[in-house]
Amino acid sequence: MIELTELQERISHVKEELSAQTLRLEDLDSLEAFRIEFLGRKGKIADLFKLMGQIDPADKATAGKLLNDLKREANEIFDIRKEKLSLSALDARIESERIDLTLPGVYHPLGHKHLLTQVQQEIESIFLRMGFDVATGPEIEDEYHNFEALNIPADHPARDDWDTFYIDDTTLLRPHTSPVQIRVMEQTDPPVRIICPGRCYRRDTQDATHSPVFHQVELLWVEEGLSLANLKYVLEAFIHEFFGEGYEMRLSGDFFPFTEPSVQVHMRAPGAEDWLEIMGAGMVDPAVLTNVGYDPDKVTGFAFGLGIERMAMLRYGIDDIRVFFGNDLRFITQF
Ligand code: PHE
Repeated sequence: MIELTELQERISHVKEELSAQTLRLEDLDSLEAFRIEFLGRKGKIADLFKLMGQIDPADKATAGKLLNDLKREANEIFDIRKEKLSLSALDARIESERIDLTLPGVYHPLGHKHLLTQVQQEIESIFLRMGFDVATGPEIEDEYHNFEALNIPADHPARDDWDTFYIDDTTLLRPHTSPVQIRVMEQTDPPVRIICPGRCYRRDTQDATHSPVFHQVELLWVEEGLSLANLKYVLEAFIHEFFGEGYEMRLSGDFFPFTEPSVQVHMRAPGAEDWLEIMGAGMVDPAVLTNVGYDPDKVTGFAFGLGIERMAMLRYGIDDIRVFFGNDLRFITQF
């Protein structure tokens, strides 16, 4: 037999444990441990219920009420805690999975055409409007198209002006776009009206106005009855389109083996003191026309080769050609 008072003592002992444990319920795991300890089938409260058999029948009603109160109290603690801890567990999960839509995105800078490409395309579009076609030729050229066909025989000192990089004895990196004239005329009957933009190479030491890699636009117009006056007109029309007002152009005599007569074209920016050579030009030499099978008594033509870098330098006031190839974004992004 167990006295009611002893049971009461044991109940209040479990109650003390309950409230002590309650303070330590921090997460769902400790809550589960709490449930097993007090409310489980072998838990502390179930143990007390087992004592009922040893209680005096007269005290059973009181004892039963006390035990049920204890059980309800423990259940209440469990339910309230469970709700709270579940909510904060959910909060923690939401917090950890939160996406901050206000964060700045990953910035992918957008590139644009290099200034040289822009200028080249602008030159192309001006001549396309004038009725010229755009032709291209190889940067790796043979000596015949680069020299002989252009009236520069082997061992002629004029070759020094186009000294370049050789791949083998007769294959070279073209030092000008003029060989494209030959390639086009070999393939077509007159009239021919083309421009040819492209990269060129020379054994030049780099300085403010020279680069071993640079770009030219070649022009060639062959037809019956063309004269130097037509060349001058085309030049002036082009320069007016490209530069606008205020730029001066001047022609002076020059020599190229593939033109006769030959001229040099200089430009001066508004307010500038110095003239800058932008191209060589002239009437196509009869020997060149003969080399491609044209009849120089029937057709005449003119040609020029201009430096794209120099055109850009004049227009944008750039004083050093090396910046085009420097890959410096501070320069590139300005245009
Ligand atoms: N090819 C010459 C050069 O690069 C330029 C030129 C082209 C001159 C066409 C006359 C005619 O120097």
